[in-house]
Amino acid sequence: MYKHLIRPVLFRFDAEGVHHFSFSFLRFLFLIPGMGWLFRQFTVYDDPALEREVFGLKFRNPIGLAAGFDKDALLGPKWRHFGFGFVELGTVTPRPQAGNPRPRLFRLPKDQAIINRMGFNNAGVDAMVERLKKFNKQDTIIGANIGKNKDTPNEQAVEDYEICFQKLFPYVDYFVVNVSSPNTPGLRELQEKEPLTRLLSHLQKLNQAASVPKPLLLKIAPDLTQEQLDDIIEVAVETQLDGLIANNTTISREGLNTPEAEVAAMGNGGLSGLPLTGRSWTVLDYLRTHAPDNLYLIGVGGIMEGLDAKLRMEAGADLIQVYTGFVYHGPGFVYQLAKAISYLVRSQPKAS
Ligand code: FNR
Repeated sequence: MYKHLIRPVLFRFDAEGVHHFSFSFLRFLFLIPGMGWLFRQFTVYDDPALEREVFGLKFRNPIGLAAGFDKDALLGPKWRHFGFGFVELGTVTPRPQAGNPRPRLFRLPKDQAIINRMGFNNAGVDAMVERLKKFNKQDTIIGANIGKNKDTPNEQAVEDYEICFQKLFPYVDYFVVNVSSPNTPGLRELQEKEPLTRLLSHLQKLNQAASVPKPLLLKIAPDLTQEQLDDIIEVAVETQLDGLIANNTTISREGLNTPEAEVAAMGNGGLSGLPLTGRSWTVLDYLRTHAPDNLYLIGVGGIMEGLDAKLRMEAGADLIQVYTGFVYHGPGFVYQLAKAISYLVRSQPKAS
C-alpha cells in the first residue's frame, strides 16, 4: 500500500516538507490510545531469535533507526511502533541551530537515494533533554548522536561534545560521536588520528568517571582509505570504544542513474541509499576483518531490502540501522528486514 498509494503522493511534494508533515501526523496519531499497539500488530516481527545483547544492552531486535531522522527526539521511543529495536536520536548540538538554507534535501528515485545537506539543524541539547524527560521509555534502547555547532572551531569541539554528553547522560542508553557528517565544514577533519584521540579520550575519561559508564561509539564516513580505517581502529582500541558505526553518507556521486545535470543542480551534500550499499558493506567487512572481536559494529548505509540486512549481518554487523530504505519502503520495512534476519539466524548450523 505504501509503495503504490502513499509514496507516489508523498513524493510529489518537497522532501523536507513531507518529513515535517509526517512527524506532525505521527505525533498526533500516537496520542490516540491504542494506536501504537495497533501499529505494532503490523510492523513488529516478533521472534526471540532476533534478540541481541550488544555492548551490555539487550535489544529486542538488531534493527535501528539511523541518526538524522529524529534529530530532536520528537517521537523518541515511539519508533518501536514501527518495529525498530532501537533508535538513535540527533545529531544534537549544544546550542540550537538552523542548519543550511533550503532546499537541502533531495530525492533521487531513479537511484533509490537521497542527497542531503541539512547541516545539523536541531533544537539544541536542552530541548532534547526536556523531551526525553517526558517520554515513557518502555524498554526501548535510545542512543544519542552528538555533534558540534557549526560556529564552534574544531580546536574547541571537545567542549561541545562534552556538553551534549554530560546533559544527555542520564537519559540515553548509548552515545555516538559524530565526526563524519559532510555538511558541517571541517567536521570530518576530526576523524584524523590526533584530534580524534584527544576527543575520544576526553569523553571516555568523563564516561569512566560515572558509576555506570555508557557504551561509547564512533560514527565514521564511508569515504576513508584503508590507512585511515586502520588509524580509526587503532584509536578505537586505544580509547576503549565500545563500537563503530559504519557509515555516514558519502560525498561521492559515482555510478548514479539520475542524469548528471540533475545531480549537479542538487549541489553539495551527503548521498545515501542504494548507491551506498556496496561501499558500506566493504567498509564493514574491512572493519570486521581488522578490528578486534570486542569492538562492536553497527552496519548502516544502503540497506534497502531483506537481503542487504542479511548480508550486513553475515559480514559481521552486530546491529544495523536504516534511514533511506525506510523513506522508500515505508512502515512495513522493518518487518521485512527482521524476517530476513530471522531466517538467517534459523538457517545457521547449530553448535554440536
Ligand atoms: C542523515 N544521516 C545522519 N547521520 C548522523 O550521524 N547525523 C545526522 O544528523 C544525520 N542526518 C541525516 C539526514 C538525512 C536527511 C539523511 C538522509 C541522512 C546519515 C544516516 O544516519 C545514515 O548514516 C546514512 O543515511 C546511510 O544510511 P542509509 O540512509 O543509506 O540507510
